[in-house]
Amino acid sequence: MSGHVPIMVQKVTGFFQGAPDGVIVDGTAGGGGHLEALRLSFPDRRLVAMERDPVFAAALEQRFRDDPMVTVHNQSYTEVEPLLAAPAAGALFDLGLSSLQLDDPSRGFSHRLDGPLDMRFDTSRGEPMHEALRSMGEAEIADVIYRYGQEGRSRRIAREIRGAMPVRTTLELRAAVVKAVGGNPVKPLSRVFQAFRIFVNDELLQLDRLLAGLHTWIAPLGRVAFITFHSMEDRAVKLLFRDSPHFICTDPPWQLPSPEEVRENPRARSARLRTAVRAS
Ligand SMILES: C[S@@+](CC[C@H](N)C(=O)[O-])C[C@H]1O[C@@H](n2cnc3c(N)ncnc32)[C@H](O)[C@@H]1O
Repeated sequence: MSGHVPIMVQKVTGFFQGAPDGVIVDGTAGGGGHLEALRLSFPDRRLVAMERDPVFAAALEQRFRDDPMVTVHNQSYTEVEPLLAAPAAGALFDLGLSSLQLDDPSRGFSHRLDGPLDMRFDTSRGEPMHEALRSMGEAEIADVIYRYGQEGRSRRIAREIRGAMPVRTTLELRAAVVKAVGGNPVKPLSRVFQAFRIFVNDELLQLDRLLAGLHTWIAPLGRVAFITFHSMEDRAVKLLFRDSPHFICTDPPWQLPSPEEVRENPRARSARLRTAVRAS
């Protein structure tokens, strides 16, 4: 697969250079960009790749099928602990959505491409967003848009969406948002699509579960890196690293991509790399 450029790849591999012996977990392996870089940087380490999307997981299994150092699991990162024989030396979580998912109209993540409003990472479980919408009232839709999209015009947008039901496709959702806000709707569109994606995948709950149990499967002095894309997930990681007795923030506690990287890969513009070390 190509089309997804891994973010801050050298910063990530450089950070894991200091990890103790043991496996490194790629908790969000996606198209395998970081996984490949970890494989090249650490040829003697075992790598455990977690990926919720069955299409990506199958592609990764195929790609690494002859590589005894890499195991791929089509599971959430919250399910990694029982798969480990010993606490991990490092873990990477590159949160959110891959550009390969965004650019595939059949997945329903993009407001620019026509497709079914599905938005699930794991298409084998749960219900697609267009199904979820059918049972949601206006107040619940507004709440989701406000909470997960941080969009101030959530009520007005929710009213249009309810009025346009059934909303089955990305372009139908787009039309309802455009009708509600008028003008140049790129920001509200991005926020509404982000909100629905976070909602349908229960992303913040997954992240909270991961953060609550992380210290139980990371080895003393093990290294943990998160790449976050919006303030809700970044704040959750920041608070854990700042307040938990189990983690020590690195100095600096976070890094941004260089201007050159952002120029070459615009998706990197909102990314932040947060790093910490498990206390000994
Ligand atoms: C930003 S992409 C990762 C890209 C990857 N680092 C690369 O270089 O190709 C995030 C990935 O995390 C996956 N994902 C989201 N939530 C997950 C979860 N709870 N457990 C495992 N994977 C998850 C998504 O399906 C997506 O492929």
